[in-house]
Amino acid sequence: MADNTKILLFGAGGMLGRELLGAPLPGGLSLVGLTRAQADITSPEQVDRALAEHRPGLVLNAAAFSNVDGAESQPKVALAVNAQGPGNLARACGQAGIPLLQVSTDYVFGGSGQTIPYREDDPPAPLNQYGLTKLRGEQLVRQACPSHLIVRTSWLFGALSRNFIHLMLELMRTRAAIKVVADQVGCPTSAGDLAQGLLRLAGLVLSQREPVWGTYHLSGPLVLNRYEFAQMIWAEACKRLDKDLVIEPVGSEAFAAPAKRPAYSALDCSKIEQTFGLAMEDWRPELARIVEYLQKSEQPPRV
Ligand SMILES: NC(=O)c1ccc[n+]([C@@H]2O[C@H](COP(=O)([O-])OP(=O)(O)OC[C@H]3O[C@@H](n4cnc5c(N)ncnc54)[C@H](OP(=O)(O)O)[C@@H]3O)[C@@H](O)[C@H]2O)c1
Repeated sequence: MADNTKILLFGAGGMLGRELLGAPLPGGLSLVGLTRAQADITSPEQVDRALAEHRPGLVLNAAAFSNVDGAESQPKVALAVNAQGPGNLARACGQAGIPLLQVSTDYVFGGSGQTIPYREDDPPAPLNQYGLTKLRGEQLVRQACPSHLIVRTSWLFGALSRNFIHLMLELMRTRAAIKVVADQVGCPTSAGDLAQGLLRLAGLVLSQREPVWGTYHLSGPLVLNRYEFAQMIWAEACKRLDKDLVIEPVGSEAFAAPAKRPAYSALDCSKIEQTFGLAMEDWRPELARIVEYLQKSEQPPRV
C-alpha cells in the first residue's frame, strides 16, 4: 500500500533537490530524498527498487543532466538522464498508480521573435540538446503516467549550488569590468521558493481527490535579460565591495557558448495560479539575502 503522506524525491543532491530537502513541509507530509548514488533514474531496476522500498504517495523528480553546454558534447548521457530516466519513473509510477511530479524547463521553447510569455500549450521548439532531451522526457512522462504534473521552470538561482549568482559574484569581486549578455530574456526563479511551491503542489495533489493533471509553468514573476539580472546582483554586492565596476551589455555571440539559448523564454504562470492558487513572489529580498550570505562566506580573510 502506498503511503499517501510520503513524497519520494529523486535527484536530492542537486540545487533544487537540496532546497527541497531543507524546505518546510506542508502539515502531515514526509519527504524522503534519494541522491544519484542512492537511486540512478536511468536504471529501471533501481527505480523499481526505490518505489518498492519506500511506497510513496507521490514521486517528485528533480534529477537532471542540467549542464546546458555539456549536453551538446554528451547528448546520449543527457538523453538517458533527461528522457529515459523520467520515462522509467513514469512507467513505474503509472503501473503503481502513483502521481509523478516532473520538473522541466523553459528551454523547451525556441524564443526567436517572441515577446509575450509562453503558455503551456505554445509549441515547443528546443534550440539545444538539453531542451530537446527535456522535451522528450516530458513526452515519455505523458505517455506512461496519466497521473502526472509537469512543472516547467526557469533560470534557477540559490545559495546552495553554483549558479549565475556565484559566477557573477566571483567576476564582480575580481574584475574591473565584466560583460553580460543582454539578448537572453527569461524569468529568474529562486530555487528555495520553487521548492516550497512544488511541495505545496505535492500536498494539494495528495489531499485532492481529482487533481488536474497536465503541464504547468512556475517561475519567478520578473521578466529580465541576463544583463539586467547582473545589475540587480551588483546593486546588492556593491554594498560590501569598495570598488567601481563596469557592466557591459553584449550579445550572446561574445561568448560563443556551445549551446544556443532562446532569446526569449519567459513563462506565463497564470494556469498554475488559476488551478492551484500557486504564485511565486518577488524574489528581490531573497536575492539580497543570498548575495550577502555568499559574500560573507566567500571573502578572503582580512589580514
Ligand atoms: N538550473 C536551472 O537554471 C534550471 C532551469 C530550468 C529548469 N531546471 C530543471 O530543474 C530541475 C532541477 O535542476 P537543478 O538545477 O537542481 O539541477 P542540478 O543541480 O544539476 O541537479 C540535478 C541532480 O540530478 C542528479 N542526477 C544526475 N543524473 C542522475 C541520474 N542518472 N539519476 C539520479 N540522479 C541524477 C545530479 O547528481 P550529481 O550531482 O551526482 O550529478 C544532481 O544532483 C531539473 O529538472 C532541471 O532541468 C533547472
